[in-house]
Amino acid sequence: MSVICVIGTGYVGLVTGTCLADMGNQVTCVDIVPEKIERLKQGVLPIYEPGLKELVERNVRADRLRFTTSYAEGLKDSEFIFIAVNTPPDNTAGGADMRYVESAARNIAEELDHYAIIINKSTVPVGSGDFVSRVVRNNLQRPDVRFSVVSNPEFLAEGSAVRDCQNPDRIVLGSSEPEAAQKVAHLYLPLRAPIVVTDLYTAEMVKYASNAFLATKISFINEIAQICERLGADVKEVAVGMGYDRRIGSGMLGAGLGYGGSCFPKDVRALAHMADEAGLHPQMLHAVMEINHDQRRLVVAKLTNILGSLRGCTIGLLGLAFKANTDDMREAPSVDIIRWVTAQGAVVRAYDPVAMETGRFSLEQEGVRLDAVTFCETAYEVAENADAVVVVTDWNEFKSLNMQQIRDSMRRPVLVDGRNIYEPAEMNHLGFIYRGIGRGTNPAPTVLPPEDTTSEVVEQETLSTGDEN
Ligand code: UDX
Repeated sequence: MSVICVIGTGYVGLVTGTCLADMGNQVTCVDIVPEKIERLKQGVLPIYEPGLKELVERNVRADRLRFTTSYAEGLKDSEFIFIAVNTPPDNTAGGADMRYVESAARNIAEELDHYAIIINKSTVPVGSGDFVSRVVRNNLQRPDVRFSVVSNPEFLAEGSAVRDCQNPDRIVLGSSEPEAAQKVAHLYLPLRAPIVVTDLYTAEMVKYASNAFLATKISFINEIAQICERLGADVKEVAVGMGYDRRIGSGMLGAGLGYGGSCFPKDVRALAHMADEAGLHPQMLHAVMEINHDQRRLVVAKLTNILGSLRGCTIGLLGLAFKANTDDMREAPSVDIIRWVTAQGAVVRAYDPVAMETGRFSLEQEGVRLDAVTFCETAYEVAENADAVVVVTDWNEFKSLNMQQIRDSMRRPVLVDGRNIYEPAEMNHLGFIYRGIGRGTNPAPTVLPPEDTTSEVVEQETLSTGDEN
């Protein structure tokens, strides 16, 4: 059993702290926001994450997991101090805002009165381990106190965070002090995962390179999807055929609206930024970002291809969150799509199984016209009198809808499946004018409008129920 302090109760901090407690350690989570800590003490979680609430409750009951706003309380007797605060994008072209990491390091330095290993879990620019060391050293109240810094990037994905944390593919540890890294490795031994021990810079780079590679797979399959659509192939089956090759793997080959969320967009941008700053021009990373941006425009282009002008149209949106099983709206495609279709004079009806509150909040924050958006209680309500329905998030709930009922309640039966959750033949059979992403059994070229989507664009397609996808 080890005594652990986790700074930050966001996604990474709360999940890591809870999982470490569940492994039998004594964990105190510290957050500077009093309301958040108060709510956590009452069992109210700041995020929606399957399985997390039960795990928190179990470990709080067993008195292995505590919450506090006090660094002094959190640091008391702690052998390991995890920094898991967020590093939002800063105002530069892709840099990371290190102010929360810096203030966590300062606060640690002010309270630390014994040797501890400070472990950085936040995604930080390569070289930040040294930065944390420097901030702690310069602010120590007791200059005789020793400490070590270890980088331990987190790879958990939202929606499967608890499972990812308890069954990681690997643990990566980086430090200039191998003994400190070995002590952290010991903490993770019960998880029986491969442990890679390396230097600080390399560990930090593993995180960026991993996320950038996964984002590249997504943009790659989205480019293949466009080619499939033109040439009459089905990208979903292409991905299955590719995925069996162990060198490729089946993950991240889902063509659709592209990646969103708190990690991929920010990390690809940050890595490109670091490379740019170093005088390089990372061509592939820039192409990955460009393709990802275009995927969202493509969906709007598909709508205008079929409906012509969107002025006066009602567009139904199934899903608001950036992906299923989360209420997270960060960099969600829904925001851009709503912005663009309302700019063209459409109104929107939207529903998400859990992201209604966060969805409304982010649309407001992003300056989207809320008077053009109706928030519905069910997916069926979204479809009522709609001219088109767009699948934005791949929630399981949407896969088992009564599509006949959806079709019957629409004004025009246009279904744009931005996540490829339905089968084209079935939807065509039900009478939908169905468009997936890259599911071209009968090529229907889609032309992207110019960047300014406020113009009413693109060649008019006939409102036939042909079998093109
Ligand atoms: C990701 C990484 O998976 C995780 O390892 C890292 O720690 C944080 O970033 P997350 O953002 O939670 O996790 O979600 P993930 O499931 O990886 O999906 C990211 C985005 O890619 C989502 O917008 C998702 O819709 C999209 N995606 C995913 C695709 O478009 N196609 C796919 O095949 C898979």
